[in-house]
Amino acid sequence: MITKVLIAYGTTNGSTARIAETVADVLGKEGLTAEALPARTVESVSGYDAVVVGGGLYAGRWHKDARRFVRRHRADLAGRPVWLFSSGPLDPSASERDMPPVFGVKRAMDRVDAEGHITFGGCLLEGARGRVARMILRSGKGGDFRDFARIEDWARSVAADLTAAGVSR
Ligand SMILES: Cc1cc2nc3c(=O)[nH]c(=O)nc-3n(C[C@H](O)[C@H](O)[C@H](O)COP(=O)(O)O)c2cc1C
Repeated sequence: MITKVLIAYGTTNGSTARIAETVADVLGKEGLTAEALPARTVESVSGYDAVVVGGGLYAGRWHKDARRFVRRHRADLAGRPVWLFSSGPLDPSASERDMPPVFGVKRAMDRVDAEGHITFGGCLLEGARGRVARMILRSGKGGDFRDFARIEDWARSVAADLTAAGVSR
């Protein structure tokens, strides 16, 4: 039986989508079936054996699409293995130490009895949407702090857990 995994993400400027696609690629290489989709486009999780939910951090909160996704699919998620990730810090801190989930993400973890959570570095580059984004960029605090080696390591650990548990439909 092949395990089918959904990676649902909430993004404003696209950088969390790349992280989600990287997670899906790694899971695929590890022998699972995985697809990354914008969280707001997912009607149902019933066709998936396991779910990863990721969102960018904005003003200390998880992206609204990720929050809504967990709220809407809460009951189905609680019956499946679920992992969450956040992407945010615009500095190397997330690669240097484990960063705990923000309050709302911790609450989401509790709601769906999540297996785990990780914070990855974020990315903010020229052309990002919003006045505050432009202010951050003008002050020289943008950049790409996504650590793809760390993202791939984490995805491999998710794959290993799912394989060990023999999760499948
Ligand atoms: C207006 C704004 C607010 C942000 N607030 C936070 C924050 O509270 N914590 C954090 O770690 N990163 C914060 N960031 C950085 C974003 O989380 C980072 O750019 C992330 O990669 C965005 O994901 P996205 O490109 O998928 O939308 C903020 C960025 C912007 C533009």
